[in-house]
Amino acid sequence: MHSNFSISRRGLLQAGAGLAAMSVLPRQGRTAASGAPERKIAAMPAARRLSGKEKSETAFWTYDGQVPGPTLRLRQHEPVRFRVENGLSQDTTVHWHGIRLPNAMDGVPGLTQPPIKPGETFLYTFTPPDAGTFWYHPHANSLEQLGRGLAGALIVEEAEAVPVDRDLLWVLADWRIDEEGQIASGFGNMMEAGMSGRVGNTITLNGSVPGDQTVRAGERIRLRLLNSSLARIMALRFEGHAPLIVARDGQPCDPHEPDEGGLLLGPAMRVDLVIDMRGEPRGRYRVTDGFYRGLGYELTRFVYSEMPVLRKESPPPFRLPPNPLPEPDLTTAQRHELTLEGGMMSHSAADDMRSGMQGMQGMQGMQGMGRATWSINGHSMMGDGHAGMAPLFTLARGSSHIVAMRNRTAWWHPMHLHGFSFRVLTRNGSPVPHNQWADTVLLAPEDVVEIAFVADNPGDWMLHCHVTDHQMAGLMTVLRVAEAG
Ligand code: C2O
Ligand code: CU
Ligand code: CU
Repeated sequence: MHSNFSISRRGLLQAGAGLAAMSVLPRQGRTAASGAPERKIAAMPAARRLSGKEKSETAFWTYDGQVPGPTLRLRQHEPVRFRVENGLSQDTTVHWHGIRLPNAMDGVPGLTQPPIKPGETFLYTFTPPDAGTFWYHPHANSLEQLGRGLAGALIVEEAEAVPVDRDLLWVLADWRIDEEGQIASGFGNMMEAGMSGRVGNTITLNGSVPGDQTVRAGERIRLRLLNSSLARIMALRFEGHAPLIVARDGQPCDPHEPDEGGLLLGPAMRVDLVIDMRGEPRGRYRVTDGFYRGLGYELTRFVYSEMPVLRKESPPPFRLPPNPLPEPDLTTAQRHELTLEGGMMSHSAADDMRSGMQGMQGMQGMQGMGRATWSINGHSMMGDGHAGMAPLFTLARGSSHIVAMRNRTAWWHPMHLHGFSFRVLTRNGSPVPHNQWADTVLLAPEDVVEIAFVADNPGDWMLHCHVTDHQMAGLMTVLRVAEAG
């Protein structure tokens, strides 16, 4: 069990390709009102090297042969058409995580569309209403499909260019690589499912074991972070720098510094940072992840080039232009409670897990604990999208709602709602500052978080934990938005 949780030093030391290549698609041609050009995306197996030095290639499941999948760059309010081809030997779908789109385009098999069978295609068409950092991934057999590499970033560009010198994307992913350099099998291990989920042993940044990130003194960068891991939570620190969070899950917020404990980034979460590169030419500054106590590691480094300082004074801070989000009316909002329960072990055992996983050795009592399950309000909806998922609540279209999520488990859960961005109102009774909206909110053990949104988008929408093992093992439900009466 131990090795499941230790970062591959070997991997990190073999830092291969320097600046991770951002795969950028040529901008789509202007779209006529008659419809956008159709772009193909193929889900298919492909082999790649995780670092330049590995002898063998690793077999992945990919979009278009790339890990991560091609970065899709869209323009706000411009329609797009994606023809997804299934070149896998099992059903798949694509979910456009965080995009507020019509329910039929949401990519949940059995709930919003039939699965795409091997050899078949599905045409997704939508018009992104919000600019920001989003992503796409399958919603069929998600644990294995995401865990084998099917994920990519989706960037919706602001109508007006944002005043930064460079716009960078780090797709962070965690893999469990076995001795042969292959993705370890054993997806859906029930013991893991009842604990932290499948945490891996190798971290990649844009598909490679991270090398140095070359920067220039005095430049201002926008850094888009996406954690596409199955289960790994990160707490990032940027030594010698003072990043400002300008958006969460694609939605602009009041610029603010990350918490003392580091920038928390759970699975599926995105954060856009603005960083003024105030280091010295030739300076080296570590970016570290210290989430799991005692298992901190250096994720990557900012390495300053010799180029002269671009500008001496940082330009004034800026905020991203707002997205057209409907503001929930808290005076009329209807209130709902979601209680998360289940998982294995006591709180103290879970604490041990976070303090270095030593607890794993002394896990008496693991036997006889039965099948790990999680539940929401006493119901365990298992697996991935499937037919017959009955909604837990029906919300009247156009009305405002407050959902209080109560984590009565010993584990962390990034809770995600499809189809909406929600305002994060309170955490443990305190108002959440900085006008934060999200589609995925991370709950620590015993946290109570209140979110609010307008139920403006009709259909059946999943709400689930994005630790994929947790979702599969019951931490999933469905909310329906329907016309009143
Ligand atoms: Cu990333 Cu159900 O979603
Ligand atoms: Cu989603
Ligand atoms: Cu969870």
